[in-house]
Amino acid sequence: MNTCPRTLLFVPGSKPKVIAKAAGLTADAVIIDLEDAVAPDAKCDARQHVADALRALDFGGKLRAVRINALDSAHAAADAGMAATAEVDALVVPKMSSVADIDGEPLAAPRVSDMPLWVMIETPQGVLNAASIAAHPRVQALIVGTNDLALGLGCEAGGSRAPMQTALQMAVLAARAAGVHVYDGVYNDFSAPEGLRAECEEGKALGFDGKTLIHPSQIDIAAGVFRPSDAEVEEARALIAAFAASGGGAVNFRGRMIEDLHVTAAKRLLGEG
Ligand code: COA
Ligand code: MG
Repeated sequence: MNTCPRTLLFVPGSKPKVIAKAAGLTADAVIIDLEDAVAPDAKCDARQHVADALRALDFGGKLRAVRINALDSAHAAADAGMAATAEVDALVVPKMSSVADIDGEPLAAPRVSDMPLWVMIETPQGVLNAASIAAHPRVQALIVGTNDLALGLGCEAGGSRAPMQTALQMAVLAARAAGVHVYDGVYNDFSAPEGLRAECEEGKALGFDGKTLIHPSQIDIAAGVFRPSDAEVEEARALIAAFAASGGGAVNFRGRMIEDLHVTAAKRLLGEG
C-alpha cells in the first residue's frame, strides 16, 4: 500500500443494503466480511451478494477488501476466487497461525496468489508467529482481532485491555520489523463514543496505524485520533523539506534537533512510511 488507511470499516457480506451504505461513508477502507458476520447457512448467498456489490457499487476511491472464511473451511477457496475476480485491493485472512498458510491452498491458487494480504492476528499461535507472517512479501498489513484473541488467551472480555498488552505489542513489533501496516481491533460497544475514543488513543500510543470499525458512528472518532491534523501535516512536510535541504546529520529545525529518524517519523505520519 502506498497510502496508509486509518479507518477500516467492516460490513457484513450478507447485507447488500448495508454494503451500499458503507460504500458512501468516509472510512478509508471497507472490509466486506464473509466470515463471522455471516451466519453459516447464508455463506453462499453472501458470496454472491458481495460479488454483485463489488461489480455495481462506486466505493468513491476507498480501498476495498474482502474477509474470507477460515482457510480450513469449505468456503475459503470460493471466497478467495470471487475476491480475485472482483479485483479487490486486498484479501483479509482470518485466524492465520503460520506463514506456511500463505503458500498453501487456497491462497496460492491461480489469480489468488497475486493478491495482497491483510492478515488477522487473533490466535495465540498467530501472535507467536506474527514476525514471520508479517515478513512474507504478500503481506501488506496485520490486523489484530481482539475479540478472538481475548477468547484464545482466556482474557476477560470487555473493559481494560491490560491483559492483552503483550499480544498487541507483539503485533506492532512484528509489523514494524517487517515494514508493514498494523491495525487495532474493533470496539464492540458502538453506543459508547468516549470508550472508543479512549481505545483509539491507546492504540495510537501503542503504535497502531489505524483502527478497524464496525459502525458508521465510529468513523469520525477514529479518524479524529488517527488522521494527522492540518498543523501536524504542515510540520511534517516542513521537517522533511528542511532536512532534505540541509545535507543531513543533526539539523536545527524550528529550534530543536532533528535527525534522519525524525524524517522517518514524519513520513509515517503522512502515511508515506
Ligand atoms: N457499515 C455500514 N452501515 C452500517 C454498518 C456498517 N458496518 N453498521 C450499521 N450500519 C447502518 C445501519 O444499516 C443503519 O442504516 P439505516 O439507518 O440506513 O437503516 C445505520 O447504520 C444505523 O445502524 P444501527 O441501527 O445503529 O445498528 P444496526 O442494528 O443496524 O447494526 C450491527 C448493528 C452491529 C449489527 C452492525 O453495525 C454491523 O453489522 N456491523 C459490522 C459487523 C461486522 O462486520 N463484524 C465483523 C467484524 S468484527
Ligand atoms: Mg476474528
